[in-house]
Amino acid sequence: MRAIELFCGAGGLSIGLKQAGIEVVHAVDAWIAAVKIYSENVGAASIADLNDIKKIAPFLFDLRPDLIAGGPPCQDYSSAGKRLEGERADLTTAYGMLISIVRPKWLLMENVPGVLNSRAWRYASAMLRHAGYGLTIQKLDAARYGVGQTRERLIVVGCLDEANGFLTDSLMAAALPRLTCARDILGPTVGDTFYVHPRHMYKRRVWPSGDPAPTVRSTYARRMPPDYELIASDAHSESSPTELTRDQVSALQGFPACFDWSAVRVSDRDRMVANAVPVPLARAIGTVIMDRERGVSQPVLERQYTEWLLARGMAQSTIDDMRTKTNRARRMLGGRIFADTAVEIAALEGMTSFKELPVKTQSALRVSLRTHARFREECLEKNGAPGGGIKSPTEPVRGLSRRPRG
Ligand SMILES: C[S@@+](CC[C@H](N)C(=O)[O-])C[C@H]1O[C@@H](n2cnc3c(N)ncnc32)[C@H](O)[C@@H]1O
Repeated sequence: MRAIELFCGAGGLSIGLKQAGIEVVHAVDAWIAAVKIYSENVGAASIADLNDIKKIAPFLFDLRPDLIAGGPPCQDYSSAGKRLEGERADLTTAYGMLISIVRPKWLLMENVPGVLNSRAWRYASAMLRHAGYGLTIQKLDAARYGVGQTRERLIVVGCLDEANGFLTDSLMAAALPRLTCARDILGPTVGDTFYVHPRHMYKRRVWPSGDPAPTVRSTYARRMPPDYELIASDAHSESSPTELTRDQVSALQGFPACFDWSAVRVSDRDRMVANAVPVPLARAIGTVIMDRERGVSQPVLERQYTEWLLARGMAQSTIDDMRTKTNRARRMLGGRIFADTAVEIAALEGMTSFKELPVKTQSALRVSLRTHARFREECLEKNGAPGGGIKSPTEPVRGLSRRPRG
């Protein structure tokens, strides 16, 4: 699978995708220092302003990507930001526009959960749906994916012609049974507790290494003031808290120990590290995408499907048979859930393994897919669950007035 990363920064997302077996053929960022670091450590990258859609779209198109990945700048939506949508938020819309033009089979977007309430995302998601993408929209905590840090991020995975929510259960199934803690990543050198410079003065600064570390930010590696006195919410231990080195902070984000940061100023390094998608999280998402692409994973049939069939007066034995047949048909389709049932049935009918089945079985498999499609339409799509309840944009675009009607 050929991928491009937009807004690549130092390349946390690309490194994880590469580890999942995805070929990242190119990356783009407007920040010269980031492109330098990315090129030296990860792969080919260009400096460009991704607002310049007219110039960028043909460039991306020529690279023939199967996947476009990226985390547009999120300061405008993050709880750390001012929550006012500005120029940076427009880049989320630009991201949606570029994908809608180039139309790779897959898309992946990472952002803070707050993006869901933004006008920029409403436009981007409406355009993506209009371009034919089914979207899986899921909030994930990196600590559940092998990252020694609590970091909640919104992950959007899209695939052309797929139904909304097509990858939700696979993303959830990829989560580890327990949270990864700071000591799992940093080893015993981190001691019992460690110091993290807070954003707000009176917040906790000393953390137990047996828990996930707090979200990595650019101020993380600041030194502990010599006269600092522990407050009630700080973790206490007999030894003094460890002050993390920059290499330890990079490790918490999953950057490999061999990553060479020497070409940038430490303040730039701190920003790039804090901006990154943690590598193990990116790897886990990349693996989920590759497994579906190869047809080795398939969506779990919803529990509510049984209830829905029961409510239609179906006997339990018929329901069991219907579920078995739906799973069988889905397996034959390589785990895909097509947004359009007619296309789904046509895809099934085109398969040699289907053509070899007795006519009666063929017809039962068709019925099972059609029935499940009806269930999805009535129960899931209507409730907005798989797609994350995204609404169409209703507000006018900033700087442009809507032409009066009539
Ligand atoms: C959240 S970071 C991405 C981090 C990256 N995904 C990673 O895993 O390391 C967002 C990036 O968007 C870049 N950026 C901001 N404005 C841009 C623009 N107009 N065009 C291209 N890149 C831009 C920033 O330089 C920054 O590196």
